[in-house]
Amino acid sequence: MPLKIRRLSYALGAEIIGADLTKPMSEEAFAEIRHAFHEHLVLLFRDQVLTPEQHIAFSRRFGELDVHPFSRYNLPGYPEVLQITNHVIDGKPSDTRNTGRQWHSDLSFTTRPALGSLLYCKEVPEVGGNTMFANMYMAYETLSPGLREMLDRLWAVHDMSMGKDIANRDPAFMAEMKKKNPPVAQPVVRIHPETGRKALYVSEMVTSHFEGWTFDESRPLLNYLFAHSVQPEFTYRQQWRPHDLLMWDNRSAMHLAVADFDHSTPRHMLRTQISGEALGRVAGQPAAQSTSAAA
Ligand code: SIN
Repeated sequence: MPLKIRRLSYALGAEIIGADLTKPMSEEAFAEIRHAFHEHLVLLFRDQVLTPEQHIAFSRRFGELDVHPFSRYNLPGYPEVLQITNHVIDGKPSDTRNTGRQWHSDLSFTTRPALGSLLYCKEVPEVGGNTMFANMYMAYETLSPGLREMLDRLWAVHDMSMGKDIANRDPAFMAEMKKKNPPVAQPVVRIHPETGRKALYVSEMVTSHFEGWTFDESRPLLNYLFAHSVQPEFTYRQQWRPHDLLMWDNRSAMHLAVADFDHSTPRHMLRTQISGEALGRVAGQPAAQSTSAAA
């Protein structure tokens, strides 16, 4: 069956109709999907009854997969699959139940940010539990030429300890994570390696300040950029159904898991993450060692 592509919103997102991810896929069909991924940033595949092996196999076609360091929440037997869940795990509420409650791009606080992520819906509350996405090309392209020119040359520090959710996670584990993930400097404007387009690359969850600027100097402009990026016209809101597989491009989109649901009802998702290219450097290291800034 030929693939059909149906746009999901004005800003980003498309549903791929006619793909069966449980079956082997031709190179031609995969190339079409990959092309749609770069064009629409977020792809939705509905009614896919997938085993973890099939979820992993489809994800791997896009590249190597990350193994999430939060291993207590990996799906047993599948280190590449993270459970984002409010199920009780090992007798305790899961630390992943509030993952992604602020806008972010996966792993931007490391020097190997994720290329993309594939989230599979197993259980959703009766209403809510949505995920939102914002088009960061649009965010960049709608700024004035003067501001774009300045931002093209700036770097910003991404620090995982800025995230609001950190306080609710296991303190010993978070101390370890912080040690392994010192603040990194990332280009404020990122050039997408496949499309060559520029995307704004700052997020309210982890971006603390512009490199070379004080925190107080940085926050007014950063707060402006955070709000500008996620205005409704630039977003898509995914209302989940069980057996939806949705993938997003972390290089050109940000996302937010909305907490708009009854938390006593189950929400259970499985996520794989495609490893990205090296980007940025540990904050404070000389700029000569940096990878791509937009200027
Ligand atoms: C995330 O990957 O940030 C969480 C997305 C979600 O649970 O909707």
